[in-house]
Amino acid sequence: MSWIAQQDLLEQPEISHGEVGQALDLASDLVIRNLPAFTRYFPKAYSEGGFYAATENVDWTTGFWTGEVWLAYEHTGKEELLKAGMVQMTSFLERIEQKRDVGTHDLGFLYSPSCVAGYKLTGSEVGRRAALMAAEELTGRFHEKGEFIQAWGALDAGDNYRLIIDCLLNLPLLYWASEETGEERYRAVAEKHIHTALANVVREDFSTWHTYFFDRETGKPDHGATCQGYRDGSAWARGQAWGVYGTAIGYRYTKREEYIAVFEGVTDYFLRHLPQDLVPFWDLEFGDGDQQPRDSSSAAIAACGMLEMAKYLDEERAAYYQGMAGRLMKSLVDSYAVKDGAISNGLVLHSTYSNHSPFNTCNHYGVDECNIWGDYFYMEALTRLHKDWQVYW
Ligand code: GLY
Repeated sequence: MSWIAQQDLLEQPEISHGEVGQALDLASDLVIRNLPAFTRYFPKAYSEGGFYAATENVDWTTGFWTGEVWLAYEHTGKEELLKAGMVQMTSFLERIEQKRDVGTHDLGFLYSPSCVAGYKLTGSEVGRRAALMAAEELTGRFHEKGEFIQAWGALDAGDNYRLIIDCLLNLPLLYWASEETGEERYRAVAEKHIHTALANVVREDFSTWHTYFFDRETGKPDHGATCQGYRDGSAWARGQAWGVYGTAIGYRYTKREEYIAVFEGVTDYFLRHLPQDLVPFWDLEFGDGDQQPRDSSSAAIAACGMLEMAKYLDEERAAYYQGMAGRLMKSLVDSYAVKDGAISNGLVLHSTYSNHSPFNTCNHYGVDECNIWGDYFYMEALTRLHKDWQVYW
């Protein structure tokens, strides 16, 4: 097994502005092509044989599809996309009003790219109301003992007193809710959670734990564990990518200087553990020569994080991370993106949702397939490269 050398990394080609535009044109066409199937219904979290089946508005992932619809709308201005986005926001409002499948921390993943985005783009009162209700629900998962938002399961369940690194992307919903309402309490929860999360999930070498348990009685940090990574001590590729984007977005809203160093540490760890084509295997333990599936979604998520953080860094460091994002996106566009809707109704191939190993606790599904957040972040990264984008997060 081996990872790319720093010099080779720097020598990889970056995507050009023209290529970004073409890739966005194609992605938007593919999204439009899917509207008849996915307006009242949503794509499932992962494809099977390259094709997403339709699902009701359940699970943690449906917001990404609506996010794709909004990104395609921004790019093309087409009325059919606007209409579809409006229909889907109504579905999100019903979901939170009826409290359907909302017992999770993933409310930010669900409501930021769908309803916050729709509200920002159209001023929709439906989007605003739904997103504020979701933010309220999310604060209900915050534990004072330990100062974190519980990721999964019932709040009184014995075995789930933990946070997971992914939650960093749920926090922008809370920052937005504070900005929107003027109430500081949402932001306070987000700031406590990010502080607890970064103090515990980031290891000394800047690799990251996927999940971290706390003592229910005392709130003290207890131990890290993986769920979707290969083994406890390894770095699950997508967890590391959530760390890259999560620290960038955390800095955006808090301007805490110490998050810059954490961003640089986790990002550099991610970049140092890429294979030659810059699209990671599902766990960063694996490199070229290992017969393991990739997680292309991690590359897209990390690219978004680097492009976000570049806004706040000095010129030299900003150029470095922008260049890295451009290299990752060049590889995704050239070698992973769907070019023909006949082979897949997704946008990006070779992603991994949940790969079982002898050392982890997850079931096996969505391996070497498209997944809907991979498609979304691919479009978001292209949009960020294409223009000065008003973030949905
Ligand atoms: N947040 C769940 C995942 O990244 O698979």
